[in-house]
Amino acid sequence: MSADITEMILDDHDWFRRQFLRLADLREETDEAEKVWDELAIHLEVHASAEEQHFYPSMARRADDDDASATEDAIGDHDEIREGTEKARQAKVGSQEWWDAIDETDQANNHHMAEEERDDLAPFRKATSLAFRQELGAKFEQFKVEHAGGRGLSFEEKDPEKYVEAVTS
Ligand SMILES: [Fe+2]
Ligand SMILES: [Fe+2]
Repeated sequence: MSADITEMILDDHDWFRRQFLRLADLREETDEAEKVWDELAIHLEVHASAEEQHFYPSMARRADDDDASATEDAIGDHDEIREGTEKARQAKVGSQEWWDAIDETDQANNHHMAEEERDDLAPFRKATSLAFRQELGAKFEQFKVEHAGGRGLSFEEKDPEKYVEAVTS
């Protein structure tokens, strides 16, 4: 039996919070910080892409207009997280610019996780069956396996309006 997709998303969020905390301890240890960050940046993209593939289409397709705008908002947040990781990618590892980009990503991600948990996961749970969420959970897991290490993902920003249009039409 697969896990409920909303639980799996929460588990990833918990892991993200812990990795950002680890980075706070590694300000003077660039080599270790680089390893932690590289893995974290990839997981942020795999997670966002997995949500865009298997969570937000169902969220946006629900009749309520609020859910479509919550989805648009979430994709915009994913783009802000992508901007942060891209900035870090272009900065010199260990430089102030690099740490600033990591902090920016942390802030964007924290803001997004809180909103996603409150505005997306909770309403979704109220409106859907456990069996359906488990079905999505299996697909979410499968996506993460297929795209482990970021394989096959573009890491590029998505236009939130076009995304909602594409998944609801
Ligand atoms: Fe998430
Ligand atoms: Fe998200």
